[in-house]
Amino acid sequence: MANALQAERWNGATGRRWVVQRERHAALREPVVPHLLRAAAVSPGDRVLDVGCGCGELTVRLAAASGVDGAVVGLDISAVLLAVARDLAAAAGEPAVRFVRGDAQVYAFESAAFDVVVSGFGVMFFDDPVAAFANLAGALRPGGRLAFLCWQDDLRNEVFGIPLRAFAAHGVAVGPGEFDMFGEPRRIAALLTGVGFDRVRVMPVHGPARIGADVADVLGYVRATSRVRDLLAGLDEAVAGRVAATMADHYRARARPDGVWVDAASWLVTAVTPSANGDDDPA
Ligand SMILES: C[S@@+](CC[C@H](N)C(=O)[O-])C[C@H]1O[C@@H](n2cnc3c(N)ncnc32)[C@H](O)[C@@H]1O
Repeated sequence: MANALQAERWNGATGRRWVVQRERHAALREPVVPHLLRAAAVSPGDRVLDVGCGCGELTVRLAAASGVDGAVVGLDISAVLLAVARDLAAAAGEPAVRFVRGDAQVYAFESAAFDVVVSGFGVMFFDDPVAAFANLAGALRPGGRLAFLCWQDDLRNEVFGIPLRAFAAHGVAVGPGEFDMFGEPRRIAALLTGVGFDRVRVMPVHGPARIGADVADVLGYVRATSRVRDLLAGLDEAVAGRVAATMADHYRARARPDGVWVDAASWLVTAVTPSANGDDDPA
């Protein structure tokens, strides 16, 4: 089965943790999501697919733009997160939104069913990104739009960069991340053009994001993330303590009366499917 490990994670402990941390994660993405909404340029009547929609906050915002004539589908592999998404959409009173459980890499979309495919950090988890993006291209009508956000590399993006740099500062090799290819614009562009998208653009977007209430809150959160937890578990106590102290120093330097703020740096990726007559609409 494709993406079996991701399905297990997002339907299990990772999914449950995501629900608990929903508001923190929404705050971390808030500075960049408006860029995505502008790029997606959803207008009334548009049929929209939100890939890896999670708890559905973005899906609900897209549904508001699409209006009652549109059809907005939030697709996710996680039943745990979709349950929250359905509740949020009901609370927001959004009749134009529908949530579907499925794996975007292999889901049998009707051909050309959507005008716009959007994702907020939901397209980095595929076993086979080529197959997945080819599948998404087929779900778009000719001349349809793709717009998604993914995180920049850890050197630029403080959301993950601060903890990882703290390990490096103490000589601990962090190794490559699971989703490193999405940190590199050239690889993203090659992936998308390779499956037939046109006018691929990868633009940096960033802004200050509230990662937590205070240093203790942020450290508790960061230490429980799987990558940091696994790295700390491999260290002796003294080194682990020094790494944590370095993280704390960085967060302390970013603490304000209203919380701890980091620079959330993403790539905003846009592309279109070729139009039926072969013409390229003006950008
Ligand atoms: C980082 S979360 C982002 C969630 C949401 N878009 C947001 O911004 O809050 C990634 C999401 O992708 C979903 N996901 C991972 N692999 C997937 C796949 N193959 N097909 C559909 N959804 C997937 C996860 O269940 C999770 O909800």
